[in-house]
Amino acid sequence: MCGIIGCVGRGERTADTLVSGLETLEYRGYDSAGIALGGSKLSVCKAAGEIAKLKTALGSRSMSGEPGIGHTRWSTHGPPTDENAHPHADCTGDVAVVHNGIIENYQELRAELDEHTFTSETDTEVIPHLIEAELAAGTDPEDAFRAAIARLEGSYAVVCLIAGCDAIFGTRKDSPLVLGIGDDTPDGQALFVASDVPAFREYTDRVVYLDDGEFVRLDDEWVVTDSDGVVREKSVETVDWDPEETGKSGYEHFMLKEIHEQPRALRQCLQGRVDELGGSVTVDELDNLAPTGVQFVACGTSYHAALYGAQLFREQGIPAQAFLASEYATAVPPIGNDLVVAITQSGETADTLSALREASRRGAETLAVTNTVGSTVARESDRKLFIRAGPEIGVAATKTFASQLLALNLLVLATTDASAGEVVPALRDLPGQTQALLDDSGAEAVAEQFYDAPAYFFIGRRYQFPVALEGALKLKEISYKHAEGFAAGELKHGPLALVDDRTPVFAVVTGDDEIATKTVGNIKEVEARDAPVVAVTDRQNDAAAYADHVLELPETHPHVGAVLANVQLQLVAYHIANRLGRPIDKPRNLAKSVTVE
Ligand code: F6R
Repeated sequence: MCGIIGCVGRGERTADTLVSGLETLEYRGYDSAGIALGGSKLSVCKAAGEIAKLKTALGSRSMSGEPGIGHTRWSTHGPPTDENAHPHADCTGDVAVVHNGIIENYQELRAELDEHTFTSETDTEVIPHLIEAELAAGTDPEDAFRAAIARLEGSYAVVCLIAGCDAIFGTRKDSPLVLGIGDDTPDGQALFVASDVPAFREYTDRVVYLDDGEFVRLDDEWVVTDSDGVVREKSVETVDWDPEETGKSGYEHFMLKEIHEQPRALRQCLQGRVDELGGSVTVDELDNLAPTGVQFVACGTSYHAALYGAQLFREQGIPAQAFLASEYATAVPPIGNDLVVAITQSGETADTLSALREASRRGAETLAVTNTVGSTVARESDRKLFIRAGPEIGVAATKTFASQLLALNLLVLATTDASAGEVVPALRDLPGQTQALLDDSGAEAVAEQFYDAPAYFFIGRRYQFPVALEGALKLKEISYKHAEGFAAGELKHGPLALVDDRTPVFAVVTGDDEIATKTVGNIKEVEARDAPVVAVTDRQNDAAAYADHVLELPETHPHVGAVLANVQLQLVAYHIANRLGRPIDKPRNLAKSVTVE
C-alpha cells in the first residue's frame, strides 16, 4: 500500500531524507514514487516504477528546498504512470499533496472544479485543487487545508506543502499517520510525519500517533489540533525497536531474516507472561476477561491464526468461530455477549478495521491481537494483546504468524479454565525447538527437488489445518505457483481429482492419536494416485512410511507442533521462490499493509 513521508528541519538533506524514508517504506508495496520540496516555488519530481527510477530522475536535475514530502503509490485509481504518481499539484504549482486511501466523492468534486486543469486520473488530485480554490479566495494556508479536507469523503492520510509557507500540514481518517519528534539541529528541530514509523526511525525513536480527525502542523514546532482547530495534548511515545531491526543483517531477504528471528520473537511474546516456576500464565491486558463466546475477524495469514484460535477456545468448551473480515459485515452474525477478537499484524487492514467497527457499533467487547502498538485497530479496541514480534518488513507474514499462534495460546490460558498442564512447558520450549529446526531443517533439499512442479497441495487436520492453508498461501504469494491447502478429510470430496504424479502433497501430521491415523489414511489416498508425498511429521505415526520425503518435527504438544510445522513450510516456500528467482520480499501485486477494502 502507499507510503507517506514528510520532514522539516533537515536543511539540504531534505531530498535525501525523503528518498531514504521512501526506501524503508518499499516493503509496503508500490508502483511509483515521488517527492516535492518547498520554498517560494515548489519543485516536484516523480516517476513510475521503482525508487531507483525516482533517484535517476532526481539525479538529472538540481532540486533543493525545504520542507519536503514524499510518497510511494500503489495504484487504485489509474495505472502506475509518472502522471498518476504523487505528489499531485494544483493548477498554479503552489500546492503539492500526497495521499493514502481513497476519496470516495472525487468524481463529484472533480465536476465541481471544472475550471481547473487536471493532469492525472487519480482521486487524490482533487485535494490540491480544492486547496488552490480556498487560497484564491484569500484563506490562509492552514485554513485552506482544513477547508479542503472538510469536503472529502472516504479514507485518507494527507500531507500537504504550500509554496512560500514553512510548514507542512497533515491529517488522517481511517489511514495511519504518525509524527516523529527529532532532535534540535543547526537547521532547527527535525520533525517528521509518515504513514509508518520505519520511514523516520533512523532519526528518532520518539513518536506521536495521530487519531482520526486530528490535524498537524509541522514547522519549527509541532502542533496537533482537532477538526475545529482546538489544540490537542498528545503524548510522545518511544518505540522500543532499533533501526537495525529494519535492516537485512546479512540475510539475502527480509523474509529469510524474519523466519530466523522467530525464536527471539517467540521469547519476546512469552516474556513476563509465563511464570517460569508455577507454569501459570498472567497477561495484564486480559485481567478479568472470561469470554463465554468468541468471534475472530481477520484476513489472510491472520485469518489462519484465527482458525487456530477458534479451535483452542472450542477445545475449552467455549463456542468460537473465525470469520474472514471482508465477509463479516456482509452478514454480521448474532454477537450476544461474545468477545470479538481482531487479529492483525499491521493493525491497519481496512477489512479487519471495518469488521471491528461493526462489532463495536453493535456493542461488542473487542480485543486486538496485533503486532503494532499505535495502530488503528489497537487504539480502537477495548483491549489489546500485543504479539511483540518486532517489525516485519517482508510482505509475506512469517514471524508474526508464529507469534500470533503463541499469543492465542496465552489468550486462552489467561481467560479460560484451560489447564497450564503440558501446554505451558511446551510453549516455553518452543523458541529453542524453533531454533533447532532452523539450524537443521531439510526444507531446502525438498525445495530443490520440487521447485518446478505445476501445482502443490497441503493437507492437515485440527491445528494442522490452518497450517496447511498457511503453507499454501506462503508458497503461492512468493513463488507464483499454484498451491492449495485443504482440511485433509476434504481432499476426497473433490480436490483429489487434481492430484497426479506431478503434484507434490505436503501432509502435516503429528502425534499418534485417531486424528493422525485419519490423516495417514489421506496420505495413502494421494500416494495411490502417484503423488509425491512430503510428510511434515514428528514420526509418532505412520506418515513417514508412506512418504517420499520427511521434514522432521520434534515431538511436542499439538498446539506447539503447528507452529513448528509452519516453520518447515515457510522454509519450503522461501527456497522454492528463491530457486525460481522471485522478488521474495516484494511479490507482484501484493502489499504489506492493505488499507483499502
Ligand atoms: C500473507 C499476508 C497477508 C496478511 C493480510 C492481513 O503473507 O501477509 O495475507 O496476513 O493482508 O494483514 P494483517 O495481519 O496486517 O491484518
